[in-house]
Amino acid sequence: MRDKHVVGNWKLNGSLAGNDSLVRAILAGVTPRAGRHLAVCVPAPYLAQAQSLLKGTPVAWGGQDVSRFEKGAYTGEVSGAMLREFGATFAIVGHSERRTLFGDTDAVVAEKFASARKAGLVPILCVGETLAEREGGTTEPVLARQLDAVLARVGAAGLDGALVAYEPVWAIGTGRTATAAQAQEAHAFLRGRVAGQDAAVAARLPMLYGGSVKGSNAAELFAMPDVDGGLIGGASLVAEDFLAIWRAAVAAE
Ligand code: 13P
Repeated sequence: MRDKHVVGNWKLNGSLAGNDSLVRAILAGVTPRAGRHLAVCVPAPYLAQAQSLLKGTPVAWGGQDVSRFEKGAYTGEVSGAMLREFGATFAIVGHSERRTLFGDTDAVVAEKFASARKAGLVPILCVGETLAEREGGTTEPVLARQLDAVLARVGAAGLDGALVAYEPVWAIGTGRTATAAQAQEAHAFLRGRVAGQDAAVAARLPMLYGGSVKGSNAAELFAMPDVDGGLIGGASLVAEDFLAIWRAAVAAE
């Protein structure tokens, strides 16, 4: 049985005071459980705050992106080593907002993934189709293309110890969640694709679903055999909502 992960993605939200109360409320309500992992991915300026509030607690933290470069003249970039220095465990790579708004191509995402691994971070590789792609019947080719770019760069062994997040773009921030069956279908497809290269890596690869996950739909999603938790946007900004999702992960088989 794979572990379950619930990871918050705060996106471009937060303030020192707001983060403080959010994190304290999460910590007050979290009951640790073996095989269940909780984390928040924060804007880079708040990594030090996350470290000081979360060190030694059951909640891990991470960045929302990572540079494909290690150091040098790359204004605005944050390296994997910098994230590690602030105790980050995770780095999201290839979020659809980075892909569509900031030009992260499949090749760039693959480089960022490799960079995160090299720095000792656990990359959370996001993949997902747009509504037009789903309606055009190209969901699987799109997911395959996004996954294959990373497989080609790091191999199946490079995915071992990482996380994959299936985030259909049409479900992100829209309140329109993929059905549990749609999520399961996509996850099974992605796992099968990895299994084509290495069945053992595929079998232990945690695969999260992201896109309008809430306390009210988390249990149904997490009950699917290939859904190993969630990557949570909006609901991770409200302690009680985030904790409700955590409780669903704790209760899941
Ligand atoms: P929402 O939960 O707000 O739909 O966002 C999902 C997401 O993009 C997490 O990375």
